[in-house]
Amino acid sequence: MVDCKSLRGDFPEISGRGLVFLDSAASSLKPRSVIDSMRVFMENSYANVHRGAYRVSLEASKAYEDAHEAVAKFINAWSLEEVIFTKNTTESLQLLALTLFYNKLIGRGDEIVVTEAEHHSNMLPWVRIARIAGAKVKMVPVDSEGVPRWDMLEEILSEKTRVVAFGHASNVTGYLSDARKIAREARKVGALVVIDGAQSVPHVKVDVRELEADFIAFSGHKMLGPSGIGVLWGKLDFLENLEPPLGGGGTVKRVRLEGGDVKIDWETPPWKFESGTPPIVEAVGLAKAVEYLENIGMHNVEAHEKRLTEYAMKNLEELGDPIRILGPKDPNKKLGIVSFTIGTLDPSLIGAWLDSYNIAVRTGLHCAHILHDKLGATQGSVRASFYIYNCHDDVDKLRNSLEELLKTLEK
Ligand SMILES: Cc1ncc(COP(=O)(O)O)c(C=O)c1O
Repeated sequence: MVDCKSLRGDFPEISGRGLVFLDSAASSLKPRSVIDSMRVFMENSYANVHRGAYRVSLEASKAYEDAHEAVAKFINAWSLEEVIFTKNTTESLQLLALTLFYNKLIGRGDEIVVTEAEHHSNMLPWVRIARIAGAKVKMVPVDSEGVPRWDMLEEILSEKTRVVAFGHASNVTGYLSDARKIAREARKVGALVVIDGAQSVPHVKVDVRELEADFIAFSGHKMLGPSGIGVLWGKLDFLENLEPPLGGGGTVKRVRLEGGDVKIDWETPPWKFESGTPPIVEAVGLAKAVEYLENIGMHNVEAHEKRLTEYAMKNLEELGDPIRILGPKDPNKKLGIVSFTIGTLDPSLIGAWLDSYNIAVRTGLHCAHILHDKLGATQGSVRASFYIYNCHDDVDKLRNSLEELLKTLEK
């Protein structure tokens, strides 16, 4: 069980502002322990990492490596070497697409499969790499609920498919795809399986061994950690054999001039993929965030959000026309995201109305334009998303303020 009411006390932004925060899918709030860990680290142990022989630098390097270890354990990776720290999910996916292209694993005539439901972060990198490489992007269409037609995957895959990249959970509908089933299907044609875990890793137990994927990307800021740090997890044997597309400080063991040529001896993973000074303080914060989530238990997080989602859907459905909830009707198919429209009302006006009740929601196209077009919501939608610090009373406040809005519209 998640005791959401008492957990709220850990989040200064809620207690300080009396905020009804329903925008965790965009970025979550931060608990005091994360905030303090970063401050204490900066006050006592801050230095650059992997670059100094003095004690503070060694301490900072240890904390930075420990953060990799904490994340590795959180997703049940085999080792910390598989965990690459980036800036965010977007950069993780971008780095991966560039790495595959750079290592000639995507080339002319190859195919990359994504879905129409993707967040742009998991669409644009592939579209752009495909254009440069002369490859083709094929899309799994969505149904009328915005759910990818995974039943069509077999006919979309071919011996030319190099990558199948998909969002584990949709940031618009909350639909959670059966990642392992998709991974197994993709593997039959030898494709690499890439999961955009931005909306799943913070909310359900993600075990990379169970998912059977090759890569997973996610962001620290959506899982109680700070902004400025993301993760790309990949299998070690794969990472070991890839040359990083971004070279620079921290990525090499030795660089030599030999016969007028620059010879590069790359570092081992994950360091060879982390070019330049990495997000050191952010890594410390992320490790604390992981600890916080582990103390609650990811199965409890999931169950709590499921209850809230069900309750929110029931309440919005009761309000009836002109509210339209996007995505699957069955809350069991969703994570804690409820997106909706109100007739032809501009979503940003609804967001502003809710803000006047101190309720924070996301409005617009949520970086998923194609999905909104397919759902006939071309102006976008209003998205309420839940986390551990949300309770049923937050949903009640959302319902009441929407009810007021509907009454005003009727006048
Ligand atoms: C499904 C999904 N993928 C990728 C991203 C991008 O995350 P970030 O902005 O942290 O790179 C988001 C952010 O909303 C998302 O919801």
